[in-house]
Amino acid sequence: MIFKKRSREIRWACQVNELSWNYRVARAIQAAHATGIFERLGKSSATAATVAADRKLDAEKVDQLLIVMAALGLVRRSGETWQLTPKSRTTLVSASPFYQGNIIAHSAQVAAFWNDLESILRGKKGGWGRVAKGGPAIRSHRDFILAMHNMAMAGRAAEFGDRVSVKGRRTLMDIGGGPGTYSMALCERNPRLTATVFDLPKTIRIAREVIARFGMQDRVRTVVGDWDKDEFGRAKDVVLMSNILHGPTSGAEMKLAKAHRALVPGGLLIIQDFLMNAEKTGPLIPAIFNMMVGAFSLPEMTGHIAAAGFRNIRKVAMPENVGATILTAVKQ
Ligand SMILES: C[S@@+](CC[C@H](N)C(=O)[O-])C[C@H]1O[C@@H](n2cnc3c(N)ncnc32)[C@H](O)[C@@H]1O
Repeated sequence: MIFKKRSREIRWACQVNELSWNYRVARAIQAAHATGIFERLGKSSATAATVAADRKLDAEKVDQLLIVMAALGLVRRSGETWQLTPKSRTTLVSASPFYQGNIIAHSAQVAAFWNDLESILRGKKGGWGRVAKGGPAIRSHRDFILAMHNMAMAGRAAEFGDRVSVKGRRTLMDIGGGPGTYSMALCERNPRLTATVFDLPKTIRIAREVIARFGMQDRVRTVVGDWDKDEFGRAKDVVLMSNILHGPTSGAEMKLAKAHRALVPGGLLIIQDFLMNAEKTGPLIPAIFNMMVGAFSLPEMTGHIAAAGFRNIRKVAMPENVGATILTAVKQ
């Protein structure tokens, strides 16, 4: 019998079916964000016609999109009036610390890579960066750095701060630290720790804004630096390298050698990255990331860390949905 309810085949067909159409949901959220619909409703409840007039959009399409958002639990309808739910007020209005708008905008830019994937498979050159840079460069860099902050605020930084021990250590260098969110999470839990975010000038400007928003300027400082040219400081107790060792083209050996030189003997290296398993069959987030940017497997990464002169390499247990792996190691 083919039309047999709850057969394994029907379950699989259902799963594959869902996997293949889910991008519509992502694009709907990205469009609602890009056209300012969430921010508009963050100011006050409104009809679709008012939202459309304020944002210079088509009223009928706005109404249809809001129905989709209602089905996702992001808006609520009362007669003809739409309002944000507490979930979207917390995550889709820019004043909230848990705002996810920049990662939504960044995902929309990255969509260009995925839309182009067939041509890329047929040999077209250019990774996600080149495709994404088709947009206004400054805006897209800002979205990218704040997207890192959004991601960190969506659970990663809290887990990181909870699970990584820097007990007894005072100085931390956060290489390519971006918005500085992981440094802030560690400093919040370790009152005697101070961190320095080392990054390019265009990123440091954004990092200072984010750190000031959290009132942590005294604990998390910034320094302009270029990992291709500069050393990572001297006599540091901790070096953090989060999401800067993305596979074979990331200059991992050079960065690890500089981290080793920057640490005191017994100093702690912390690495956070998207790492594939030893068989290179997943997990899904590192596998996706490997396709766009590049990713090491866990044994490849631990091999690089050991080759740079670190010992006592440990994997910090993290919940699976986080996607990133954290490793710590000690300079001998
Ligand atoms: C993927 S982000 C990671 C940000 C942060 N560590 C995190 O995990 O949220 C990579 C960071 O490396 C920085 N970066 C890129 N090239 C760099 C260079 N040559 N020297 C220093 N930082 C650089 C970028 O500005 C960006 O902040």
